[in-house]
Amino acid sequence: MSNIFCSTIGKKLIMSISGLFLVTFLLLHLSLNLTALVSKEAYKTVCDFMDTNIFIQIMVPVLALGFAVHILYSIIITLRNMKARPIGYSVSNRTEASSWASKNMFVLGAIVLCFLALHLSHFWAKMQLQHFIGGHGKEAYSLLIELFKNWYYCVLYIVWVIALYFHISHGFWSAFQTIGANNSKWIPRLQCAAKIYAIIVSLGFISIPVYFFFGLYTV
Ligand code: HEM
Repeated sequence: MSNIFCSTIGKKLIMSISGLFLVTFLLLHLSLNLTALVSKEAYKTVCDFMDTNIFIQIMVPVLALGFAVHILYSIIITLRNMKARPIGYSVSNRTEASSWASKNMFVLGAIVLCFLALHLSHFWAKMQLQHFIGGHGKEAYSLLIELFKNWYYCVLYIVWVIALYFHISHGFWSAFQTIGANNSKWIPRLQCAAKIYAIIVSLGFISIPVYFFFGLYTV
């Protein structure tokens, strides 16, 4: 059994399952965040739900584990690939943007990770963590207004979304290919679904800093 986690296919499988888990999480996270564009009250209701719901409390460590596994195996696979193929190769049956993304998955992932650390220190540490240690978290909506009035935070956020776009527009279909949907009928469909998913998620996330930076909210 332990051999599964050490074999090349086992490692790829772990990458794809953890990647698809993160893909699902992103969609859920985005839908919750978008309530901030509806009203302050709607966003507050969602934040209160996140702070108190038992399922969410259980999912937080599971999510952290999902990220840890994905990152750990991404390092292992990238190092192995660098050893095996120091010069790199071109992939003929992919679009150019997709093959560029496939060759730069680690760099794209690293950009996503840097922003994630910043994001956690700004939001999670000031809100959920405070509740967890028995203190009073900052009011979530004011935090959004405060952060997104800074142009540099908005720029960093958009750089993150662009990296995320390329990471998932390749990763989404690649994960299904790893799992076994690897034939000429399904690959183009999955590539199309990946592009649609990546566009929806990216536009959704970008709409939040744009909304707050341009002061489109009412308090
Ligand atoms: C929300 C964040 C993330 C999502 C949704 C995500 C999603 C995915 C998916 C679906 C795959 C495809 C797996 C496969 O080909 O079977 C993948 C691959 C990959 N991810 Fe991520 N990922 C995220 C964050 C990260 C981070 C933070 C890193 C590293 C610092 C990373 C590094 C990689 C690498 C290197 C690969 C390619 C592995 C290979 O060559 O097979 N990802 N990701």
